[in-house]
Amino acid sequence: MSSPPRVPALDLRAQYATIRGEVRAAVDRVFENQAFILGEEVEALERELAAFCEVRFAITCGSGSDALLLALMALDIGPGDEVICPAFTFFATAGAVARLGARPVFVDIDPATYDLDPAATRAAAARCTRLRAILPVHLYGRAADQGALLALAEERRVPLVEDAAQAIGARDASGRRIGGRGRVACFSFYPTKNLGGAGEGGFLSTDDAALAERLRRLRVHGSSRRYAHEELGINSRLDALQAVVLRVKLRHLDAWNAARCRHAAAYDEAFARAGARPSTVSLAAGGLPLRTPAPVAAPAAHVYHQYVIRVPAALRDPLREHLAARGVGSDVYYPLGLHLQPCFAALGHREGDLPETDRAAREVVALPIYAELSDAQREHVVASVLDFVTR
Ligand SMILES: Cc1ncc(COP(=O)(O)O)c(C=O)c1O
Repeated sequence: MSSPPRVPALDLRAQYATIRGEVRAAVDRVFENQAFILGEEVEALERELAAFCEVRFAITCGSGSDALLLALMALDIGPGDEVICPAFTFFATAGAVARLGARPVFVDIDPATYDLDPAATRAAAARCTRLRAILPVHLYGRAADQGALLALAEERRVPLVEDAAQAIGARDASGRRIGGRGRVACFSFYPTKNLGGAGEGGFLSTDDAALAERLRRLRVHGSSRRYAHEELGINSRLDALQAVVLRVKLRHLDAWNAARCRHAAAYDEAFARAGARPSTVSLAAGGLPLRTPAPVAAPAAHVYHQYVIRVPAALRDPLREHLAARGVGSDVYYPLGLHLQPCFAALGHREGDLPETDRAAREVVALPIYAELSDAQREHVVASVLDFVTR
């Protein structure tokens, strides 16, 4: 009998094997040119990213974290201002707000979608006296409820700044690609992302020409002409080496995202056949102790940066150990809400303030999902999960 396949949580080597020739030729081009920072390759990437995201402007920068910081700087957000964001996200979302002296106003998530809960957002906005932006996160590659959040942002006359680090290529309920509905959206090229570089990188997208120009200035120390600094900026430039690698990968991104969706549909179907229900049904409702991601209806489109299931908190670590013993990688995004991080202690939050965030932090498990996953690997993941939750 053949031994079961190993299934790492992510396998970037498998991806590289499919593009090795293209990447090497592109990297050679940079060394032949010896132009390493910004320049023509970066500009070409920016045009291609704008076309991909269906926006007028894409501005690259040093990381997704910098993209968030630059977006808030370009909107003049500073000390004493309030920015609504979720706590169930990567640190950078709220880190950028606090870095500028503004206050992250943490709002709970919708437990089914992991996005800002629109009703809770509205209630929090009503309590804010210096609300300056609403910052949803398209977590796991699924678009937030943009319609409700945009309506609220318009009512309050504040910009919607999207943390789209995990969602390149996703479409919201209007059918539009993530990146153009808010005032500005922030993306990451962290190597594990759906479009990942060979190091740090990020970009911003916007349809606003004046904002795009300001972002381009802020990323080079606030300078639009050499040695003239109109304002204080930061150094956050993309390398040409990153740009050429990303240009190669961008050509494959639609196909890779489609493959992720096929794997997600196959996971959904296999788990549903065994009795799992979608995460729109709380685990407290009983039945098989397994919930699959909430379905997304066209024209919205998920890009499954992560395929995240939920199991009762007490089962999560044992499930992960069971999977590891069978060669299946898994991960937890995120084990602690940002409202409970030590660096935000001054905000005075306690466990229970954001109950859905706290519950998700205890229950979520990300399973392997990437374009190169084979059917045999995926079936081994399914069998390994099911023999744990059905026993
Ligand atoms: C939701 C979210 N926001 C922001 C970031 C920050 O991006 P980076 O790691 O490129 O700084 C990431 C990724 O790491 C992320 O997942």
